[in-house]
Amino acid sequence: MRLAGTTEEITCSDSILVTGGAGFIGSNFVLDWLAAGCGAIVNLDKLTYAGNPENLASVENSAAYRFVQGDICDAELVTSLLQKHKPRAIVHFAAESHVDRSIVGPEAFLRTNIDGTFTLLQAARAYYGSLASADQERFRFLHVSTDEVYGTLTPEAPAFHEETPYAPNSPYAASKAASDHLVRAWLHTYGLPAIITNCSNNYGPYQFPEKLIPLMIANALQGKSLPVYGDGQQVRDWLYVGDHASALRTVLERGRVGETYNVGGGNQRSNLEVVKTVCALLDELVPESKFKPHLQLVKYVTDRPGHDRRYAIDARKLEAELGWRAQESFETGLRKTVVWYLRNASWVENVTSGAYHQWMTQNYSGRGEKVAAGERTR
Ligand code: NAD
Ligand code: TYD
Repeated sequence: MRLAGTTEEITCSDSILVTGGAGFIGSNFVLDWLAAGCGAIVNLDKLTYAGNPENLASVENSAAYRFVQGDICDAELVTSLLQKHKPRAIVHFAAESHVDRSIVGPEAFLRTNIDGTFTLLQAARAYYGSLASADQERFRFLHVSTDEVYGTLTPEAPAFHEETPYAPNSPYAASKAASDHLVRAWLHTYGLPAIITNCSNNYGPYQFPEKLIPLMIANALQGKSLPVYGDGQQVRDWLYVGDHASALRTVLERGRVGETYNVGGGNQRSNLEVVKTVCALLDELVPESKFKPHLQLVKYVTDRPGHDRRYAIDARKLEAELGWRAQESFETGLRKTVVWYLRNASWVENVTSGAYHQWMTQNYSGRGEKVAAGERTR
């Protein structure tokens, strides 16, 4: 196939295009991918409040990494990036990701998670159609999604598996479910070689301190209250973010086109258990803290509207078919995470203060590339 207006057949490079790579999971994935020497990455990120190029400062000057600030809803930009970089895969992280924000303001979730995914799919479809058949063979569109599309579980119900019917309850979950369905439709209707992963709650370095675990760490260190929604008995199934990155690498390497893979580490914990463990770790690791015991800071607050009671993931398909295993238990992963936040207090300070936004406007402007250095060339 040829691109309209060209006579050249497109040949894929070894690079991949990542969207949302400056966010929590995306930046962990980029660092993992580059450390593993898997090839070059072009990272398209709008840099919303959740995107922070500082997460990737250690690879900023790497010949294998390029950053482009831009919106996945910008069809022209996405198309030009695909034509220019000729990636062998797209790994789609970019999203609005926080449930509480989706309750207060769902519009941005529909725009990025649904319209943005649609735009990306259309561009990917045109690009895929332009590839030589050997490159079409290895091209993948990996859609990174959530277990929240399956809705909520009763305490006795078996964990979510790949055939669990979709029943999203929050605006966030509904927007992600819609995006999953679009990906499925582009696979079945247009033959785009897509794979979907649905992962449980992640935690680890670079998570924005609005999500449960980093919020509890940040608040406890400052002696602020630790808001536990409702009775705190809601259950989440926690996965260390590095294990999610390795799962995605595995799926890209060996996953079957058209399949869905659930990703999880088998760590179901109630929110109260999580908060208690965070507090115990802080008591141990910050013995001089004047807020000890940190558990005294817990404050039960009004429950989240429509709050899902329990999530749990059955990851046996990914484990049995592709041989992936989580490396961290909840205990080892949480200890690593707390230590990371203790060592990176300035990161939390930056992303929650004006300093980060000031730094962003100095270094990045509008749609396009980094002001100071431009897009890196190899
Ligand atoms: P995040 O909010 O930390 O990061 C999202 C990133 O996307 C940010 O860098 C942001 O700047 C970027 N972005 C947002 N809108 C954009 C747009 N219109 N164009 C380009 N970039 C845009 O999210 P996360 O926690 O890293 O989640 C990444 C993906 O993984 C999401 O798709 C999410 O649904 C999924 N997921 C998250 C979890 C979790 O526990 N965090 C679990 C399962 C799946
Ligand atoms: P969160 O980290 O927002 O992830 P999600 O809603 O996608 O599961 O929340 C995890 C759980 O912690 C969820 O049950 C809501 C609860 N929670 C609190 O109890 N207090 C808080 O301040 C936050 C942010 C979450």
